This record gives sequence, C-alpha cells and structure tokens, in this order.
Amino acid sequence: MARVVILNGVNLGTLGTRRPEVYGTMTLDDIEKLVAEAFPDVDLEFRQTDFEGEMVGFIREAADSDGLVINAGAWTHYSYALHDALESVDVPKVEVHISNVHRREGWRRVSVISSSVHAVVAGMGVQGYVAAVKYVLEASAS
Ligand code: DQA
Repeated sequence: MARVVILNGVNLGTLGTRRPEVYGTMTLDDIEKLVAEAFPDVDLEFRQTDFEGEMVGFIREAADSDGLVINAGAWTHYSYALHDALESVDVPKVEVHISNVHRREGWRRVSVISSSVHAVVAGMGVQGYVAAVKYVLEASAS
C-alpha cells in the first residue's frame, strides 16, 4: 500500500473559522476525510504543526514515504529551513495552497520552497490536496 504524507503548517489548524471567504469553511479534519474518501487504498498520514522545527522533523520522516504534500502556510514565504529540509527528501513533493496566492498580497506571491518541490497547486481550494496526492501517486508509480 502506498504511503503519502500530507503536512500542514502554521495556522492551518484554524481552518474552518479562519477567513472563510478566502479558505472556505472546511476544517483540517474535513479535508482529511475528503482526501481519505478520494484515496481509500492509500495510507495517508495527515499532520499539522505551528512549530517550524517540528515541521522539519515531519519532512525528514517522510523520506521513506511514496510522496509528500505540504501546505506550509506563511512559512512558504520565508522559511529557508523548510526549503532545505524539503530539498533533502527524495520523494515526489507538491506544495499546496488553498487560495490563489498570486491574486493576493505581493509577499504571498513569493515562495522560497517552490524550487525544492516538483509541483505547485494554488487556488483550487481544498481540491488542491486531492490533485496533489494524485500527482505524487502517479509520480512514484512511474
Ligand atoms: C496558504 C496561503 C499562505 O499565504 C497563508 O499564509 C496560509 C495559507 C493557502 O493555503 O492558501 O496560511 O498557504
């Protein structure tokens, strides 16, 4: 059974109530269920943290998985530590953003982690997680 790790970073634990006009009303638990229903035969490991060092650990632990999906939240825009951690993990990797960061504030248009992943999904809402898991599964099978 394929194992895919789905990581959510800082502030994403507040999904559901945080700016619903931007991020929608689904909680992280709802998103986990949505993805699990889409991939019943995949071992999906969902994790969230507000601590950058803990996220680095989660990324390293994904080294023996079949794929990594990460929504790094605001860390996306400035964390070289996450960039370097992602770079050192040799599995298919996708950066996800629920919102279209390119239609928002200028600082959100910059990602310091994109160059360490294979693909980026932004603006597809929570379906972006489903698209990202599909991508890593196909990439790891080929
Ligand atoms: C986000 C976009 C980031 O700019 C923001 O800091 C988030 C969520 C998204 O999913 O759209 O926390 O990654």
